[in-house]
Amino acid sequence: MEKLGTKDKIMGFGHRVYKKGDSRVPVMREIGRDLGKRTGKEQWVPICEKLEEVMDREKHLCANVDLYAAPVFWMLGFPAELNTPLFAASRVAGWCAHVTEQHDHNRLIRPRSLYVGHKLRPYPGSTGKGA
Ligand SMILES: CC(C)(COP(=O)(O)OP(=O)(O)OC[C@H]1O[C@@H](n2cnc3c(N)ncnc32)[C@H](O)[C@@H]1OP(=O)(O)O)[C@@H](O)C(=O)NCCC(=O)NCCS
Repeated sequence: MEKLGTKDKIMGFGHRVYKKGDSRVPVMREIGRDLGKRTGKEQWVPICEKLEEVMDREKHLCANVDLYAAPVFWMLGFPAELNTPLFAASRVAGWCAHVTEQHDHNRLIRPRSLYVGHKLRPYPGSTGKGA
């Protein structure tokens, strides 16, 4: 509440595109709940749920995937200062694709963009049956 009073941004809430809710949140919340049971750290998901309730009440803002990714990484044993590097590492391939596409068309790529590439392609070295 103090942070909201000083107009600070609360990490893990809001998104430029997912204004009505981030579809990755329910998935990450359940991973957090499951990990909580397995590691004996069941407090994190209820804490995040309380934060969601307060942010909805005070700002009508929804959680983004990072709200639950933070306790998930923590329960997996990653120190908090690795949150941003992990976030970045998982996106490097996508960012490189965006750079290439932007060089081609000078359009900023947002998640709303429609994928028009190949459908299923075999993973190198696989039997070719799966995606
Ligand atoms: C992602 C983000 C940059 C989107 O910002 P945005 O496009 O300006 O968001 P909105 O237009 O929906 O903001 C509406 C209002 O809520 C405020 N707001 C947005 N996110 C907020 C947050 N996390 N905490 C507090 N207030 C927030 C905005 O300042 C704005 O207030 P105003 O109307 O008084 O100016 C922003 O939500 C943010 O910085 N979130 C925290 C960081 C984070 O979790 N990033 C990871 C995203 S995957």
